[in-house]
Amino acid sequence: MSDIQRATNLQDKSDKPVIVALDYPEMDLALQMAKQLDPSRCRVKVGKELFTRSGPKIIESLSDQGFDIFLDLKFHDIPNTVAKAVRAAAEMGVWMVNVHASGGRHMMEKAYSELQKVQDNRTLLIAVTVLTSMQKSDLLEIGLDIEPQQHVMNLAKLTHSCGLDGVVCSAQETAMLKGQFGSEFALVTPGIRLATDSADDQQRIMTPSKALQSGSTHLVIGRPITKAVDPLRALAAIEEDIANNV
Ligand code: C5P
Repeated sequence: MSDIQRATNLQDKSDKPVIVALDYPEMDLALQMAKQLDPSRCRVKVGKELFTRSGPKIIESLSDQGFDIFLDLKFHDIPNTVAKAVRAAAEMGVWMVNVHASGGRHMMEKAYSELQKVQDNRTLLIAVTVLTSMQKSDLLEIGLDIEPQQHVMNLAKLTHSCGLDGVVCSAQETAMLKGQFGSEFALVTPGIRLATDSADDQQRIMTPSKALQSGSTHLVIGRPITKAVDPLRALAAIEEDIANNV
């Protein structure tokens, strides 16, 4: 993808920052939810469980409904294998796909360069830095004697220098990362809740408007929308929080 095209894809972020996480065990349930949403107002995320159960059919069906899709499979393998998987995702027409930054420079550079071979490629490639489920003690156990925030910054720098389009990060990290990389680097943030929402199992949460103010470019939101009696109304409340406060 040319730099101009990448910037254009990233610019879309401001008008449609919400990515609804379709965390369902079956394609039919995911499609039923998608039907209640509006592709002009949000994007959707397909993760490991749903994709493993339904395969590319779910991507096709959601695309037919007009949705931009973030295929959240967090690839991590030898460079050739990851590059081909990323290419397969781009050829299915997904809007965004991701890898683990800890796969290293060769893996990320090869994935990025493989994407350039896809004709008219518009797929964004981002990386996961440190899983938010991992604490300092977990890093130590895998041989990394480093503060998690420092490791996030190191891996984000590596991701940026490999030419990728952004990272997945917690809302607590966005200010630091935006300060380092500016607004052309996507910061995709889960753990988003309105003050009135249940936190569910999320440990540290932030409201949509606060997350955008602190530098998030996209917000991954699942249960506050998918478990709502009226999902589109829940999305409207999120849009209102953003419109009133950003
Ligand atoms: O329902 P909820 O809004 O908590 O969903 C958040 C989504 O973001 C889920 O798909 C979850 O797997 C994903 N995610 C997360 N925390 C991370 C990375 C991804 O919650 N650190």
